[in-house]
Amino acid sequence: MDDNRVIIFDTTLRDGEQSPGISLNTAEKLEIAHQLARLGVDVIEAGFPIASPGDFEAVRAIAREVHGPVIAGLARAHAADIERAADAVREAARPRIHTFISTSDIHIEHQLQSTREDVLGQARAAVAHAKSFVDDVEFSPMDATRADVEFTAEVVAAAVEEGATTINIPDTVGYAMPDEYAGFLRRLYELVPGLRGVVLSVHCHDDLGLAVANSFAGVQAGARQVECAINGIGERAGNASLEELVMLLHTRHAALGLETGIQTREIARTSRLVSRLSGYPVQPNKAIVGRNAFAHESGIHQDGVLKERSTYEIMDAASVGVDDVSSIVLGKHSGRHALKSALEELGFTVSGQALNTAFKRFKELADKKKQVTAMDLEALVTDELRAEMASYALEWFDVEASSRRPPHATVAIRTPAGEVVRGNFTGDGPVDAIFRAINTATRRDARLREFRIDAVTGGQDALGEASVILEVAGQSAAGQGVSTDIIEAAALAYVRALSNAERKVALAAETAEAEERELTPAP
Ligand code: KIV
Ligand code: ZN
Repeated sequence: MDDNRVIIFDTTLRDGEQSPGISLNTAEKLEIAHQLARLGVDVIEAGFPIASPGDFEAVRAIAREVHGPVIAGLARAHAADIERAADAVREAARPRIHTFISTSDIHIEHQLQSTREDVLGQARAAVAHAKSFVDDVEFSPMDATRADVEFTAEVVAAAVEEGATTINIPDTVGYAMPDEYAGFLRRLYELVPGLRGVVLSVHCHDDLGLAVANSFAGVQAGARQVECAINGIGERAGNASLEELVMLLHTRHAALGLETGIQTREIARTSRLVSRLSGYPVQPNKAIVGRNAFAHESGIHQDGVLKERSTYEIMDAASVGVDDVSSIVLGKHSGRHALKSALEELGFTVSGQALNTAFKRFKELADKKKQVTAMDLEALVTDELRAEMASYALEWFDVEASSRRPPHATVAIRTPAGEVVRGNFTGDGPVDAIFRAINTATRRDARLREFRIDAVTGGQDALGEASVILEVAGQSAAGQGVSTDIIEAAALAYVRALSNAERKVALAAETAEAEERELTPAP
C-alpha cells in the first residue's frame, strides 16, 4: 500500500458500543455498518463475538451484508474466543481477527494473575490459531503504554513471526502523552525489525483529552492505521474521534501529504445516525460535528466571514456534509414517490411494508408540520427501526396534567407475549406519571437513570426526540422515541429502553451460565 495512505479502522460498533448505556440491536448495528461503508472506512470492527449471542449475530450479519470494508471481530488470546470470532466473520469478503492480551505488569499481575512468560506464549499461540482461520490477523498488546517497552517488543516480535499483519498499540487507559507515545512506537520499530513489514496501528483513549493528539503523534511516528470511533464514543472517556482525525489529515493535507479513503461529505450524516441510535448526544461545541462547529457568533467573526470565508473558517461546512441535506423539504402534498427518493438521497433504501409505514408516519407528521425536513425524515426512519426491534410496544396512553391536581397517567402496553396490559399512576409530573404507569402495567421495577428531550429541528412544531436510560436488575439500557408530542416521545423511549434492558438481563444470565461452564472470566 501507498506509504501516505492512512487506514481508517472504525471501532464504533465494538469499543464505542462498550460505552455505558449503549445497547444497539442487530438492525441498528447493521444500519450503522452500512453507513460506515458509505463513509468509506477501511475496516469495521463489528463487535466482540464471544461476548454474547447478540454480539455474535450482529458481527455475522455485518460480515454477510456489508460490502467494501474489511470486517473484524475481536477475540481475547483464548482459543474459544478466536474460534467464535472466526465463525462470526467467516462470510465477509475480507475477514479479520483482532486478538489481544495485556503486556503491562499491572494487568499481568492483577487482572490476568499470570506471568510475562505465559503472556508471551499465549500471544504467540493466539496469533498462530487466528492465522489458521484467516490471513488478516491483528494483534494488540493491551495497556502497552504502561508496559515495559522491551517486553512489549518481545511479544510484538512473536506476533509478527506468527504472521500478524497489523500490530496495534493501545493506550488503553488514555495515559500517554503525544511525545511519549510517539517515542514508544519509534522504540518498537528499533527493537522489532519485522514491524516494518506489517501495518502499525494506533488505538488511543481520551481519558486526558489526548486521544486524537496521541493518535496523530503515532501517525507521525510511522503508524498507518488509526483506530477511532464516530463522535469519539467508547469505553470511559471514549476513543479518538474519527471525524477529528480524518478532518485533521484532510485540512492539513498540504503540510502532511497523508490520504484516507473517507468520503468526508458523509461525516455529518454518520455522526447524526450514531448519536441517534446510541442515545449519546453530540456536544454543541464538538469539533467537526457539533452544531456550533461552523457557526460564527461574534460580530467581528461574522463580519470577517461575510467579507471572506477564510478569515475565520479553516474548513468548508459542506466538506463534512453539514449542508448536504438542507435541500430536502417535503410537505403534506408530497407523495410516496417523493418520500422514497428523499429517503434514498438520505441513504435509506425503503420499500414494501417499510415504505408504507414510513409514508403513514410522514403523512401524520406533515399534517402537523408545514415542512418536513431531512432531519425529520432521518428521525422518523430510525425511530421505525427501533420500534421494529422493541419487544414491548406502547398501544395508547392518557395523561391528565393540571396545576391544581397531581398528574395522572394510564397506559396500555403490548408485552413480548402479545398480551395488552394496562397500568396507571399518579406521579410528580406527567412524565413521571407515565413512566411509573408503564412499570405498573409491565410489573417491572425499572429505575430511571437519565431522561432527556431534544428538538430534532427548530420551530414550535418540531419533532421531539426523547432519550431514556434506565436500569433493570443491575443492567442499564437506553431507548429513544420520536413524536411531535413530547409525552408520547418519552413513553416510546421508555418502553424501548425497557425492551433493551430486558434483552441485556437475559443475555447476562446466558453469559453467566456459559462462563460457569467454561470457568473463564468475562472480557
Ligand atoms: O483499549 C484497548 O486496549 C482495546 C483493545 C481491545 C484493543 O480496546
Ligand atoms: Zn479500546
